Amino acid sequence: MNEQKCLGKVYLVGAGPGDPGLLTVRGKTLLECADVVVYDALISPQILEIANPRAERINAGKRRGRHSLLQAETNQLLIEKAQTHAIVVRLKGGDPFVFGRGGEEMGDLVAAGVPVEVVPGVTSGIAAPAYAGIPLTHREYSSSVTFVTGHESAGKYRPQVNWQAIAHASETIVIYMGIHNLPTIMRELTAAGRSPSTPIALIRWGTRPDQEELIATLGTIVERVRETGFEAPAIAVIGDVVNLHERFAHCRPLVI
Ligand SMILES: C[S@@+](CC[C@H](N)C(=O)[O-])C[C@H]1O[C@@H](n2cnc3c(N)ncnc32)[C@H](O)[C@@H]1O
Repeated sequence: MNEQKCLGKVYLVGAGPGDPGLLTVRGKTLLECADVVVYDALISPQILEIANPRAERINAGKRRGRHSLLQAETNQLLIEKAQTHAIVVRLKGGDPFVFGRGGEEMGDLVAAGVPVEVVPGVTSGIAAPAYAGIPLTHREYSSSVTFVTGHESAGKYRPQVNWQAIAHASETIVIYMGIHNLPTIMRELTAAGRSPSTPIALIRWGTRPDQEELIATLGTIVERVRETGFEAPAIAVIGDVVNLHERFAHCRPLVI
């Protein structure tokens, strides 16, 4: 890509998982000063309300199977906006670098000579379990946690997930984008030797007022999802720490 003359800078800002209270102070300051905000589909309206009222707002949101803007178009848009505006905020759900394609966007911007900076956000894989009363590495049950994508086409975008290895890699497993592929994932993990009685929690719209949880075991969760019609977007947490949900769920922060 050719180097571009730029007036401004692109900030890849993590918006957190939904609760506006989880936006970082730096992210909030940048939103308040932004000239342009290019945002994803899962961004809470309350967080968008924080943005400078004079900022241009562009929805680059992606939905499963349908891209409002292709990734390449989004990257090109960011490059163009940085040529004519001082503060371009690329607002992404959770953390930009955790299953968020922030790395690819940064790569294209760097290649085009556009100044860019990342502002980390609270990732849904940490916040959703926390709001469900599940401490991912409670000392009595877990000394390790794995964050993994359950997206069917993981192999298309990044190395294929090795579920055999993941099954034994850590006591706690946190799966992003795993709902559509849940039957295969459960089959793979149990075939690899993880007990069908291992607890699992699905947390939908974590940290939002409409957060929903579904608790079951590796052996029963697929049936429970079918019975209840539980849908994405959700985080799955696997491991004995899920049992703490019953004791701690009532301690969740009040989402305003
Ligand atoms: C493309 S990934 C983006 C992850 C994001 N960068 C992060 O750090 O949270 C989208 C997936 O994140 C998870 N996710 C994002 N926000 C969520 C929320 N509020 N509650 C539960 N899961 C969420 C879901 O698994 C969803 O399918």
